[in-house]
Amino acid sequence: KRVAILISGRGSNMSALIEAAKNADYPAEIVAVIANKPDAGGLETARTQGIPAFAIPHRNFASKREHEKAVSETLQAVKADIVCLAGYMRIISPEFVSEWEGKMLNIHPSLLPLFKGLHTHEQVLEAGMRVHGCTVHFVTAGTDEGPIIAQTAVPVESGDTTDTLAERVLSVEHETYVRALALVASGKAVMKDGRTVFKY
Ligand code: GRF
Repeated sequence: KRVAILISGRGSNMSALIEAAKNADYPAEIVAVIANKPDAGGLETARTQGIPAFAIPHRNFASKREHEKAVSETLQAVKADIVCLAGYMRIISPEFVSEWEGKMLNIHPSLLPLFKGLHTHEQVLEAGMRVHGCTVHFVTAGTDEGPIIAQTAVPVESGDTTDTLAERVLSVEHETYVRALALVASGKAVMKDGRTVFKY
């Protein structure tokens, strides 16, 4: 399956997916990286890995839909089958979501449905949770609400700060995204009637 990755920043999840896809029997190939920020560090990383990398700054467009149309054109040009949002800090319009329903994934740094939105590590510490983690899910119109594909939990250690927690979660995000994309690209996990169906 041909996969395009959308980023806004350093792209550490992107890098993990690029690494995994180097393995001949990984069921996905990374065909493009698109960033909505021209200075996204991940663009340079992708280029050094020989992956076509496109900066499509949202600020160059009059509206969200105009920007999304430009992104869609690039996705069509590279013949992407699957889109992975990885640290992509834009809300996707319902129109764009429906264009890619069942073929767009996102990673969120919490055990959804707990702690949607931003600053999840603060929310977790505030709630006194003893476990935390990350979730890869199919993207649907609601933010951080789509059917779950894969999750990994990590312990909250005493004395954890948002930084130590973010670091522990990020380290399991990479393996979780690699696993989730493989499930979707190989057809082992599909989105059906708003749920994830596992076929194995
Ligand atoms: C990560 O915490 C991820 O969960 C969130 O964006 C952050 C940055 O990810 N979606 P990356 O290093 O840019 O992949």
